[in-house]
Amino acid sequence: MSVAKPLPHDAARLHVTGDARYVDDVPSPADTLHLAFGVSALAHGKIKGMNLDPVRQAQGVVAVLTAEDLPHTNDVSPAAHDEPLLAQGVVHYVGQPIFLVVATSHLAARHAARLGEIDIDPLPALLTVDDALKANSRFEDGPRIYERGNLGDGFAAAEHVIDGQLDIGGQEHFYLEGQAAIAFPQEGGDMLVSSSTQHPTEIQHKVAEALGVPMHAVRVETRRMGGGFGGKESQGNALAVACAVAAGMLGRPCKMRYDRDDDMLITGKRHDFRVEYKVGVDARGRITAIDFTHLARCGWAQDLSLPVADRAMLHADNTYYLPAVRITSHRLKTNTQSATAFRGFGGPQGVLGIERVMDHVAATLDLDPLDVRHRNFYAAPGKGARNQTPYGQTVEDFIVPEMIARLRADCDYDARVQAVARWNAENRWIKKGIALTPVKFGISFTLTHLNQAGALVHVYQDGSVHLNHGGTEMGQGLFQKVAQVAAARFGIDTAQVKITATDTAKVPNTSATAASSGSDLNGMAVQAACDTIRDRMADLLAQEHQCDPADVVFSDGIVSVAGAEYSFADVAQKAYLARVSLSATGFYKTPKLEWDRIRGKGRPFFYFAYGVAATEVAVDTLTGENRILRADIIHDAGASLNPSLDIGQVEGGYVQGVGWLTTEELVWDDQGRLRTHAPSTYKIPACSDRPDVFNVSLWDAPNTEDTVYRSKAVGEPPLMLGISAFSALSQAVQSCGPAYADLQAPATAEAILKAINRTRKEVWD
Ligand code: MTE
Ligand code: MOS
Repeated sequence: MSVAKPLPHDAARLHVTGDARYVDDVPSPADTLHLAFGVSALAHGKIKGMNLDPVRQAQGVVAVLTAEDLPHTNDVSPAAHDEPLLAQGVVHYVGQPIFLVVATSHLAARHAARLGEIDIDPLPALLTVDDALKANSRFEDGPRIYERGNLGDGFAAAEHVIDGQLDIGGQEHFYLEGQAAIAFPQEGGDMLVSSSTQHPTEIQHKVAEALGVPMHAVRVETRRMGGGFGGKESQGNALAVACAVAAGMLGRPCKMRYDRDDDMLITGKRHDFRVEYKVGVDARGRITAIDFTHLARCGWAQDLSLPVADRAMLHADNTYYLPAVRITSHRLKTNTQSATAFRGFGGPQGVLGIERVMDHVAATLDLDPLDVRHRNFYAAPGKGARNQTPYGQTVEDFIVPEMIARLRADCDYDARVQAVARWNAENRWIKKGIALTPVKFGISFTLTHLNQAGALVHVYQDGSVHLNHGGTEMGQGLFQKVAQVAAARFGIDTAQVKITATDTAKVPNTSATAASSGSDLNGMAVQAACDTIRDRMADLLAQEHQCDPADVVFSDGIVSVAGAEYSFADVAQKAYLARVSLSATGFYKTPKLEWDRIRGKGRPFFYFAYGVAATEVAVDTLTGENRILRADIIHDAGASLNPSLDIGQVEGGYVQGVGWLTTEELVWDDQGRLRTHAPSTYKIPACSDRPDVFNVSLWDAPNTEDTVYRSKAVGEPPLMLGISAFSALSQAVQSCGPAYADLQAPATAEAILKAINRTRKEVWD
């Protein structure tokens, strides 16, 4: 059967040969125009005047648009209608688009965009969480609070009370393909848009609003993205709307792609967070009460910040039972890029918070960090009542202790812990650290209605299959996995299934491909569509052979019934001649969900995905330089739809998580200017940064919930396995001195040196 096979990515060959077509590769007509934004150089201020004559006079410029020139709505926000395409009266961050240049070439548009003379009266800019807190600048009236149990009693029962704070940096998505869109004007005011987006329906919706037409007049197509990582859930809206508006006004195709610097300057990133904690523990390090405060720097517009901050709260427990808990979440509004979705969607910040607490407790009580983790774990099934999350969902299939037991044995963990301790006792300058950390990640959109998907499947009379669904391909391998499902339902080879571009005209009202739910949702919708067609075929054959339709078997390219055998193509031909429809839609909605996000109670997740990682690092304590020596991972993808794609997701997720927590540092200056806006100053992991020894395997057990072939979502959870590297670096730093090594994130060489100095305090002062 085609599911569970380790097939390569369907476009792997196209990716490496350059044949794969991205938005910028779509052949464009000769009269295509190119767009660029003129952006704000100030973080906050009132626009007093604009002289755009030099822009208009620049070579190749065809038109220059400001907010006043827009035909309809001036809004590209995904939710709150607070994000104008072009600034209106006030600018809110350095990089905010103010005017739009339309020119005959990409370069001409970019050159001209620099020539705008914008007169801005500066207003005070709120740049940091402290600025925003002081000014009470936030997206909700006050903080959101989720709590359970009695904190007072919990702290009273504690043997030790520990508090601390962790600053967690943001992260640039650094998709290899930058944001891009192209719009082709159609007859009668219709618009066709090709967009590098995780959310074609959102692009359709925003373009329709901007043009003042119904959604049916706009068609959006997305064949693939060169990476999205959450950065293309909402951040593509501006380009697509700009292209559509200009194309509508000028009657010519319009194309826009951000250069890397513009992309980094204009678009939102992962939210940076400050996590404050106060935790009560007993003598063995078991938590009696915990009080978290999350301070999320959301930037100037709301974007997806509320659900991101919610998800951080919902992952503040990670794999640990918290008997008495309060999580207070501040969603702070600042004059910086509007922070947005990024792999894990707030989950990583929540998980890092509690993992830091585990390390802090272990260091303070002089206990083994893995022992402390074990003592706080949720109960395994049938092993007692410590299985309620703070929001009231029961953890029903807690497999983390078994996964850890296997990983410990597989990677010789305990002996290596001893070896690291010996090394550190014997070596003064190079210190080592080793840590094993777990992940539990909730699968489903927390906005319940988003958990739906549609599919459209055609079988042609030669038995070949045309497959379409609402999910988008960003490199994660969704299209291949879903094609494997379709092939399995028909009992044919995946080569017979044509994967086609996501298209709002084929499947409507889709959700973003996000929350790791792409294969869960679209796989099920495709399964339903295929089964409809297969059942029609089976009915036809059963009639002919006078048997039960259930006795018609589709397998290995053969359809067998009552001793007779047909090829799948023969059956398709038969059905066509018998006037049986060979086209069907499919629909799926996730069951069992029930969530009150104001109270923070219910079952927001259909199930949890788990993973465990052990990372060993070495740190040069004179320079802070460091490297990962070895990483071992076991990750739970349920009954994997495609083990090689899933392992790819785990490897990539881990490395991206490590990048977030080590070398990827975003720096804004005191004027709110992002100083790290190119690969020269912003360091993502390179090939040479991957661990020398890197073992990844899948935990091979079916999902206990009824998902597509009992698989589990895999896209985001492995990013949080990178936390094991941060924890290992903390251990290495800790070995330098007696004081608690409160390493901050990202653990750049500089941050590590600072933490070492704090740790050594008593020794060196
Ligand atoms: N993998 C690759 N190669 N490229 C990406 O952009 N995005 C991640 C993850 N893995 C991403 C990726 C994110 S943020 C999500 S939500 C999921 O893939 C989305 O796809 P899925 O739902 O099909 O897993
Ligand atoms: Mo992923 S952050 O849900 O696009």
